[in-house]
Amino acid sequence: MSSSRTPVFLTSSSSHFLTPLRNGYGAASSPPAPSGPSSPSPLPTITILGSGDFSRALALRLLRGGFHVVVGSRRPKQAAHCFPHVVDVTHYEDAVGKANIVFLAIRREHYSVLWDLKHLLEGKILVDVSNNRRVNQYPESNAEYLSSLLPSCTVVKGFNVISAWAMQQSYPLDASTHVYICSDSVWARQQVMELARLLHFRPVDMGPLSWSRDIETMPLRLFPGWRGPVLAAVALSIFFFSYSFVRDVIHPYVQSRQSDFYKIPMEVVNRTLPAVAITLLALVYLAGQVAAGHQLYYGTKYRQFPGWLEGWLRSRKQLGLLSFFLAAVHVLYSLCLPMRRSERYQLLNTAYQQVHADVESTWNEEEVWRVEMYVSFGVMSLGLLSLLAVTSLPSVHMALNWREFSFIQSTLGYIALLIATLHGLLFGWRRAFQWDSYRFYLPPSFVPALALPVCVVLGKLLLLLPCLARRLHLIRRGRDSRQDGPSRLEPVGAAMSPERVTIM
Ligand SMILES: Cc1cc2nc3c(=O)[nH]c(=O)nc-3n(C[C@H](O)[C@H](O)[C@H](O)COP(=O)(O)OP(=O)(O)OC[C@H]3O[C@@H](n4cnc5c(N)ncnc54)[C@H](O)[C@@H]3O)c2cc1C
Ligand SMILES: NC(=O)c1ccc[n+]([C@@H]2O[C@H](COP(=O)([O-])OP(=O)(O)OC[C@H]3O[C@@H](n4cnc5c(N)ncnc54)[C@H](OP(=O)(O)O)[C@@H]3O)[C@@H](O)[C@H]2O)c1
Ligand code: HEM
Repeated sequence: MSSSRTPVFLTSSSSHFLTPLRNGYGAASSPPAPSGPSSPSPLPTITILGSGDFSRALALRLLRGGFHVVVGSRRPKQAAHCFPHVVDVTHYEDAVGKANIVFLAIRREHYSVLWDLKHLLEGKILVDVSNNRRVNQYPESNAEYLSSLLPSCTVVKGFNVISAWAMQQSYPLDASTHVYICSDSVWARQQVMELARLLHFRPVDMGPLSWSRDIETMPLRLFPGWRGPVLAAVALSIFFFSYSFVRDVIHPYVQSRQSDFYKIPMEVVNRTLPAVAITLLALVYLAGQVAAGHQLYYGTKYRQFPGWLEGWLRSRKQLGLLSFFLAAVHVLYSLCLPMRRSERYQLLNTAYQQVHADVESTWNEEEVWRVEMYVSFGVMSLGLLSLLAVTSLPSVHMALNWREFSFIQSTLGYIALLIATLHGLLFGWRRAFQWDSYRFYLPPSFVPALALPVCVVLGKLLLLLPCLARRLHLIRRGRDSRQDGPSRLEPVGAAMSPERVTIM
C-alpha cells in the first residue's frame, strides 16, 4: 500500500548522510566511494518491519527527523490506520526492497518471518531493536541469532534501550538519551550512529556485535549496583529498630506497665536512622582497610582481591550515598523532635515539678556543653558528607582530578566519619558505663551503633603508624615483596587497580 507524500530533504549539514545507501550503494558494510559536491539529495528511506508499538513510535520519530518511512506488515491494510498517511505501509517484501536500512521491530520469536525475505535483505543493514523478558533467556543474544539466520545482512544492535513511549516524545526524555550501538561492520555502525544523532539521541559506539548481549541486558537491569547496599541497609534497620524497640518500648512496659508505644514513630525511628547511617559509613571505610590489610599481608598490590572484597569495594559509593541519605533524614527527624506534643507535656511536667520542688534553676554546665558539642559535631559531619555526595555527581567529579577526588572522598570522608563518631559519643556520654542505662542487660543503642565506627577510626590510626604507613606507601607505589609470585610488571588483571576499584 502506497500513499502520496511530500519528498523530504536533509539539512545541508547532514545531506551526505546515508545517500550512498539510497543511491543503491552495494554492500551496506562498505564505505561509499568519494563523490564531488552535489545539491541536497532527498533523504534515504528507512524501512521498519512490524507495525506494533515500537514501530509506530519509531515511525513518528523518523518523520519528525525529516525521513521517509516505509513500514512492512503482514496485514498492511489494517496496520495503515495506525500510522500517519505519509508513511508507506506495505507488505514485508515490498518494504524491504525500498530501503537499505531496515529496522526490525518484531520480537525474536517471530524472526522466522524473515526467512522468506532472505534474498531481499541481502547486503542491507538490519537494525535489531529487540529486547528479551529476562536476562539469559536465550543462549545467544538476539542480534547474534539474527546474524546467524541472515549471514548476508549486516546486523546492527541498537535503540533497544529506548522505550516506545520515550521514542515518540518530542521533548527531552526523563531517562538517558544514550543509544548503545554495536555491529561487526564499522561502516554500518557509523551509519546507524549518524541516524541516531539525527533523531536527537546520543549514540555510544560499543564495538563488535559480541557486545549485543550486554546491550540487551541493559533495559532489564534495575539498579544492579544497589542490591547489596540496600540489603545491608534493610538488615541493619531491622536490627537497630528491634534493638531500640525492645529497650525503649518493651522494657518499660514489662517492668512497670508503662505504655511508651508512642515513641515508635519518632524516637525509635530516630535511633534507627543514625545508627544505620553511621554503620554504613563505617562499612565504606572498612572496605579500604581490609584492602590495605590484604596488600600488607601479601606485600603487593598486584595480587587480586578476593571476589567478595572486590564487590564490597565496588559498592562503597552506594553505601556512602545511602549513609548520607539516612543521616539527612535523621537530621530532619531531630529538628522535628521539639515539635511533638509529648515533648511539650514533658517540658511542662518538668517545669511544674521544678516549681513544686522550689528549684529556681536547673542549669547544668556539663549537659549544656555536651549538647552544644554533639549538635555542632553532627552539623559538621553532615556538611562534609554533603560535600562527598556532591562530588559523586558525574558532572562534578569530571571536573576534579584524581588527587582532588581522592582527597575529598578519602581524607574528608574519614574526617566526616570521625566527627560523626564523636557526635554519637558525646550524645551517649557516660551512659555506656552507667548500669541503670542498661535494659534487659542491653546497653543504650548508641553503643552498638558506634561499635563499628570506633573500630574503623582505630583501624585508620593503626594504618597511620609510621611502620605500616611506610610499607603501605611502598606497596602502593609498586613495590612487590613477594618471593615466589609474579613480578610487579605482571598485574593480575584490571581488578588490581584501585582506580578501577573506585567507582566514579
Ligand atoms: C556521600 C558519599 C558519596 C560517595 N561517593 C563516592 C563515589 O562517587 N565514588 C566512589 O568511589 N566512592 C564514593 N564514596 C565512598 C568513599 O568515599 C570512597 O570510596 C573513598 O575513596 C574511600 O576511601 P578509602 O581511603 O577508604 O579508600 P581508597 O582510597 O579507595 O583506598 C582503598 C584501598 O585501596 C588501596 N589503594 C589506595 N590507593 C592506592 C594506590 N595508589 N595504589 C595501590 N593501592 C591503593 C589501599 O589498600 C587502600 O586501603 C562515597 C561515600 C560517601 C559517604
Ligand atoms: N515497545 C517498546 O517500548 C520497546 C522498546 C524497546 C525495544 N522494543 C522491541 O521492539 C520490538 C517490537 O516491540 P513492540 O512493542 O512493537 O511489539 P508488538 O507491539 O508486539 O509488535 C510486534 C510486531 O511484530 C509483527 N509480527 C511479525 N510476525 C509476527 C507474528 N508471527 N506474530 C505476531 N506479530 C508478528 C507484528 O506486526 P504486523 O502485524 O504488522 O506484521 C507486530 O505488530 C520487540 O523486539 C521489542 O523487544 C520494544
Ligand atoms: C545537622 C546534623 C545533626 C543533628 C542536628 C543531629 C542530631 C541528633 C540528635 C538530636 C540525636 C539524639 C537523638 C535521640 O534523642 O535519640 C542524635 C543522635 C545520633 N546521631 Fe545525630 N545529628 C546530626 C547529624 C548526624 C550524622 C551526620 C550522623 C552520622 C552519620 C549522626 C549520627 C547519630 C548517632 C549515631 C546518634 C545516636 C543515636 C542513638 O543510638 O541513640 N548524626 N543526633
